[in-house]
Amino acid sequence: MIRINNLHKSYVTGSNSLHVLKGIDLEIKQGEFVSIMGSSGSGKSTLLNILGILDNYDQGSYYLDGNLVKDMSEKKAAKLRNDLVGFVFQSFNLISFKNAMENVALPLYYQGVNRKKRNKLALEYLDKMGLLEWADHMPNEMSGGQKQRVAIARSLISQPKIIFADEPTGALDTANSYEVMEILKAINAEGITIILVTHEHDIAAMSDKIIRLNDGIIAETIKNGDLKNWQHQYAKEIEQVKVLQQA
Ligand SMILES: Nc1ncnc2c1ncn2[C@@H]1O[C@H](COP(=O)(O)OP(=O)(O)OP(=O)(O)O)[C@@H](O)[C@H]1O
Ligand SMILES: [Mg+2]
Repeated sequence: MIRINNLHKSYVTGSNSLHVLKGIDLEIKQGEFVSIMGSSGSGKSTLLNILGILDNYDQGSYYLDGNLVKDMSEKKAAKLRNDLVGFVFQSFNLISFKNAMENVALPLYYQGVNRKKRNKLALEYLDKMGLLEWADHMPNEMSGGQKQRVAIARSLISQPKIIFADEPTGALDTANSYEVMEILKAINAEGITIILVTHEHDIAAMSDKIIRLNDGIIAETIKNGDLKNWQHQYAKEIEQVKVLQQA
């Protein structure tokens, strides 16, 4: 589904250049649920934006579902995004002056689907998220968890093969975070690949594989079977810090 070789990315602002990704190699198969972790500024969003064809890279190669993504025209990139990709963001990115149904229907509007058909589908997806009775509510009338479920419904309506989620639980309390993760797990169980950025270890531990970015490269890949052990190790570290703080 995703194959990346020796990928590099720098940001150039004025005379400064910041080398953010310094040779990423990565393969993600159809149906995997992968978390990307790493400290703030380590390049997680940069990588996710490149994977979602929202941004370009400088060097290396990226194949998405067999297509080489490199110096694509905006038209071709938009077509690939429409056909393959859904996005979920920390801040929901809903349009404030459109109701829940219209927000969910938006991708279909851009694909030229007529109003009746897109609203019908939007209601189906809202129903799947348990939000049918919220269809005509505006985003500011909804809780964070509800807004994120609207955003997930919107990401699903064009039937993507992959969902990219950049800290989807970052603005939610624990209960809503777990609910969003349960929804993402259910979507994944239907065969959709999920790639999620998170700061939270317990959230990451719900995926099949964790990738840790550090200093522009993948410093560590932790697979399913090792997750428990790794959580245990992390719990020990937290305990040690607590002991030190109390001392
Ligand atoms: N458009 C941009 N122009 C210039 N520099 C940028 C741009 N976007 C990101 N950066 C810089 O690139 C580095 C990586 O940013 P990125 O947003 O990918 O980090 P991140 O791992 O997602 O961090 P966070 O956990 O805080 O979201 C940071 O130093 C950031 O300041
Ligand atoms: Mg980020």
